[in-house]
Amino acid sequence: MIKRNVYLDHSATTPTDPRVLEAMMPYFSEQYGNASSVHSYGRQAERAIEDARQTIANILNCQPTEIVFTSGGSESDNLAIRGCAMVARAAGKGNHLITTPVEHPAVTRTVQQLVDYSGFISTILPVDEVGQVTPESLESAVRDDTILASIVYANNEIGTLSPLSQLSLITRQYRIAFHTDAVQAGGQMTLNVEELGVDMLSLSAHKFYGPKGIGLLYVRDGIDLIPSQSGGSHERGRRAGTQNTPGIVGMAKALELAYSEHASRIAHFSTMRDQLIDGILSSTSHSHLSGHLTDRLPSHASFVFDGVDGNKLLMHLDMKGIAASSGSACKTGNPEPSGVLLALGYDRETALSSLRLTVGTHTTHEDIDYAVKSISESVEALRKLNSTVLH
Ligand SMILES: Cc1ncc(COP(=O)(O)O)c(C=O)c1O
Repeated sequence: MIKRNVYLDHSATTPTDPRVLEAMMPYFSEQYGNASSVHSYGRQAERAIEDARQTIANILNCQPTEIVFTSGGSESDNLAIRGCAMVARAAGKGNHLITTPVEHPAVTRTVQQLVDYSGFISTILPVDEVGQVTPESLESAVRDDTILASIVYANNEIGTLSPLSQLSLITRQYRIAFHTDAVQAGGQMTLNVEELGVDMLSLSAHKFYGPKGIGLLYVRDGIDLIPSQSGGSHERGRRAGTQNTPGIVGMAKALELAYSEHASRIAHFSTMRDQLIDGILSSTSHSHLSGHLTDRLPSHASFVFDGVDGNKLLMHLDMKGIAASSGSACKTGNPEPSGVLLALGYDRETALSSLRLTVGTHTTHEDIDYAVKSISESVEALRKLNSTVLH
């Protein structure tokens, strides 16, 4: 097999689309005004930002004033959860938060911090073996003092989608603010906040061919937040700091492209993903798909392999030119299994054998063929090595 470079880590980040870059460029150099300034330079930047806000509002089916620009998905999650919880408690509405074990750390650790340092109480809902929560379990967790539920739209490790429009029937019935982390879903799934029934929604541009370091939080009119970063009264007092004009313009362009090209992108992603899933499950023995078979992101395939160390597999694949990722963090040589996979009921060893492959707009059939063959070879080689060491 001739070596080729294949990037299958689009859930980690995507390259910035050249059309996005082109739209951003003038705001670095010619139109560099601070959008808060009263003079013409400032007004030019402000106009670009407000046009971008309108473009995004059209896609989310919301008012432009309901969009807060942030530095990315993590900040949006922090702002939504901490900002909303603090205000709701101060208003005497309660201090109980609901979330799930399949959230990104930007949600999990924010909730945990509120519990550890600010006297909030949390309920972590159970998930089934593919990582979904049910409306019934959400309803049974609701208490008189529940103020907020935060449930991921699409999980980053296993790609499973949450049934948001069913879950939001419960949050509406009990008048609980409903936040969703839509960072992985952005650019692929509907972001129509009325259809979804959510009150807050986090997005990050670098996941849909926009630039890094820019994101947004949709905040339904009527939901009060304290800013997670205080200072000037930018973004209607909800996020202090000079606005990132090129980033905001780039994010709007990227989102516009993602939804104007939606049908062809999704058809391409799901064709590539299905070729990957079928190829790996049929060519690699003792391999299993993790997450939901059909309720999953069109770009996302994830697996566990019996008797294989996921981090070693990643290194093998890297040597073959394939960029992938695994759910476990291995920065110290002592890998910790992914909490998401443990929550699905996998044992520690299986959770350490995970591999995530996420396709993108430039992924080809040849890339997938190469990846399938390389993965199958690497998995068998690692198993052989294991049995040699054992005997
Ligand atoms: C589900 C989810 N939420 C939040 C984030 C954080 O986004 P950002 O990198 O923009 O801070 C990520 C990034 O991987 C993610 O996958």
